[in-house]
Amino acid sequence: MTNGASPGPEPGARHPGRRAAGLYVHVPFCVSRCAYCAFVTSTELHLIPRVMAAVRREVEALGRRGGRPLATLYLGGGTPSLLPAEELAGLFAVLDRRFPRLPGAEVTLEANPDDVTEARARAWAELGVTRVSVGTQTFSERGLALLGRRHTAAQASGAVRALQEAGLDVSVDLMLGLPGLGAAELDATLEELLRLRPGHVSVYLLETDKAHALARLAERRPDLFPDGDAAASQYLAAGRRLVAAGYRHYEISNFALPSRQARHNLRYWLRLPVLAAGVAAHGHAGRRRWANVDELSAYLDAVEGGRAPRAWSRRLTAPEEVKERVMLGLRLARGVSAATIAACSALVPAFAAGLEDFLSLDLARPVRSRVRLTPRGWLLSNELLNRLW
Ligand SMILES: C[S@@+](CC[C@H](N)C(=O)[O-])C[C@H]1O[C@@H](n2cnc3c(N)ncnc32)[C@H](O)[C@@H]1O
Ligand code: SF4
Repeated sequence: MTNGASPGPEPGARHPGRRAAGLYVHVPFCVSRCAYCAFVTSTELHLIPRVMAAVRREVEALGRRGGRPLATLYLGGGTPSLLPAEELAGLFAVLDRRFPRLPGAEVTLEANPDDVTEARARAWAELGVTRVSVGTQTFSERGLALLGRRHTAAQASGAVRALQEAGLDVSVDLMLGLPGLGAAELDATLEELLRLRPGHVSVYLLETDKAHALARLAERRPDLFPDGDAAASQYLAAGRRLVAAGYRHYEISNFALPSRQARHNLRYWLRLPVLAAGVAAHGHAGRRRWANVDELSAYLDAVEGGRAPRAWSRRLTAPEEVKERVMLGLRLARGVSAATIAACSALVPAFAAGLEDFLSLDLARPVRSRVRLTPRGWLLSNELLNRLW
């Protein structure tokens, strides 16, 4: 593997990457809704016991149909870190019974900084969590306030340190392209991030194409937001700084210190099987893709009625599979094999023409027998990938 963009061999798996699976479990609760977030989540915390009972029941049922050994487990949200200790322990008890974990399995929990304490960090590690993904977004107090976050920058730093001290791998989420935050705030944020030096960093440009408060603000007052060029400069500047500090920019939005890539997320990009439980959770295995219903009430009705909470399930056609391979593969620094690119170009001439343009503008590069996008290419990748569908 030239760049480490691989989850690596799966110890104990008879057919690495085939027999083993990843499992995503969606925990759809938050104390409050952040101004930029359109994830499927609810602030009706009194529903936690009922919904988590349904999740346990769904996991049991999934496991009965052949619980594969897990190479990765990801508890995402929402805010899994707000689960009371007994709910988390109950979930792990079912998971442990139905889905044996491979030695060295990666177990990630998403956490909000305001939920992290030293005692909780230790308790998560004892349950088997190996990695915590902390939604920090920015270390600017002004930025945190406008995002509607419930924590301060100091709390975010304290959370990262507490997790590191508990021996957990830490990933930090940052957001760029935020209204009213310029180069000075970004510099200060990156400085604090590099002082903490988590093993993994996700850097997202604010997306305003979904229904959330900041998207509505962007529609009314676009002047408050950095324009496309300014947001692009932030992304490129953040990338340069992280790479100079020893992080590898291994995926369009993700940076890692050596051997700290997000192994669960790599399974999506490398198209290795990922099972799914919880409202709105998506899974895939081979050519099969499926999703659970994304309404909490429909999810509860289905699971409590003894039915799978499936919204849809379909098998990709062979041409769709090729296009998906290209779409996901170009997100990664390792890129896509020339053979797959050729197959895709034969299917979609408009993609072939777009890729020629990317290559001539140094937005894409041929490297040995592969094609990869450059960081500027990643910024413009929608222009290319939209041609596929
Ligand atoms: C499921 S959320 C985070 C989990 C956790 N509840 C938290 O807030 O820390 C995953 C990440 O998606 C990113 N995100 C959410 N909404 C976004 C948006 N509109 N544009 C870009 N990134 C977004 C944020 O960085 C967030 O931390
Ligand atoms: S960003 Fe995290 S805490 Fe905020 S609403 Fe979304 S899932 Fe909840």
